[in-house]
Amino acid sequence: MYLRAVFARRAAWDLTPNELTRRVAERRGRGLPVLDLGESNPTRVGLRAPAEALARALGELARDPATARYEPDPRGPRPAREAIAAYHRSQGAAELTADHVILTAGTSEGYAHLFRVLADPGDFVHLPAPGYGLFEHLAALEGVEAARYPLRAPRAGARWRLDLEVLARTLGPKSRAVLLIHPHNPTGSFVDPEDLAALRALARERGLAIVSDEVFADAPGAPTSVLAGAAEGPLHLVLSGASKPLALPQMKLGWIAAAGPAAARDEALERLEFAADAFLSVSPLLAHMLPALFAARGEIRAELAARVDGNRARLEAALRGVAGAELLPAEAGWAAILRIHGGADEEALALGLLEHEGVLVQPGFLFDLEPPPGYTSGCHLVLGLLLEPEPFARGAGLLARFLAGGSG
Ligand SMILES: Cc1ncc(COP(=O)(O)O)c(C=O)c1O
Repeated sequence: MYLRAVFARRAAWDLTPNELTRRVAERRGRGLPVLDLGESNPTRVGLRAPAEALARALGELARDPATARYEPDPRGPRPAREAIAAYHRSQGAAELTADHVILTAGTSEGYAHLFRVLADPGDFVHLPAPGYGLFEHLAALEGVEAARYPLRAPRAGARWRLDLEVLARTLGPKSRAVLLIHPHNPTGSFVDPEDLAALRALARERGLAIVSDEVFADAPGAPTSVLAGAAEGPLHLVLSGASKPLALPQMKLGWIAAAGPAAARDEALERLEFAADAFLSVSPLLAHMLPALFAARGEIRAELAARVDGNRARLEAALRGVAGAELLPAEAGWAAILRIHGGADEEALALGLLEHEGVLVQPGFLFDLEPPPGYTSGCHLVLGLLLEPEPFARGAGLLARFLAGGSG
């Protein structure tokens, strides 16, 4: 009784680990190997460029006398914000300056500040499905409700489309913001320019903000950030951070960049600054390194692209001739979706693959992936494309053997 009374309802999480997580822990407990084909942590996969850039930046930081002082700026040190603004300008956000950027302790904190500033408890933010459960948790932690709107898989090509009809029907008087993941994780799809234009019109009409998570946007030949063309409104708030474009999650640095009609943009920035000032959670020491780290962005991006493209090709080669397994095309990101046609159950597949081959992949339901268009059955497995080439190729081979029915 006391336990039910003492805690907030919004913190009543179901903390039971899912079956796959339980079996992984059990396997590791028995000393058996697990080859994690879902690996998405860039610091565990032998990348050279981010590690070298970090070492250089830390060396420079150690010699910088400015580090001896603490002069907090709730928006984050200006040189760091200038480097961030230049990064987004390189993606088409021509008018973005350091004054439109606020640093956060990671992208998740950026979400928290945005939910605090945009929505009161009980208000709604609209999130894409498929998607990732983290965003719902971040909303719930701020007392904000999350509603889902669907993304529709393409029949051909890589570009998933927003179902704006369903979104429009789901919007209500308590709706405050629509979240885009641009490009999306795990589909790797950018938001189509036509969908963006229609969403902007809808958001202006209904008084909503567009929040665009662009952590995976640094793809070669990437379409421009939603910050480009935002001046007509509505209010646009873009999230990114060091964890993906710089492959340095251990920096725990993220940021929010704001654009849109000047009055709304500046008001948003002032309110966000107030929220950031209440915590001052960004270490100026770490933020001080951002300009040096951004200077290495070209090398980091090239190494990431080579790794991801190489592994995608390895996966394609391994799956050639495996009936019913289709690797979905992607425009960007670090993930691959494998569509399995037929009546197989994705959780049973993931559990079987772990047990028979010691290989871990994520079942699609963890990302709300639904059966393919036009089918009532069929399922998905989600992989990461970051592992070193040798273990990745080995894991892809074991996965192909399992799917072809040749293991055990
Ligand atoms: C789309 C997306 N946004 C945000 C994050 C979290 O980023 P951060 O580590 O900067 O908090 C992730 C993590 O994988 C992600 O996939």
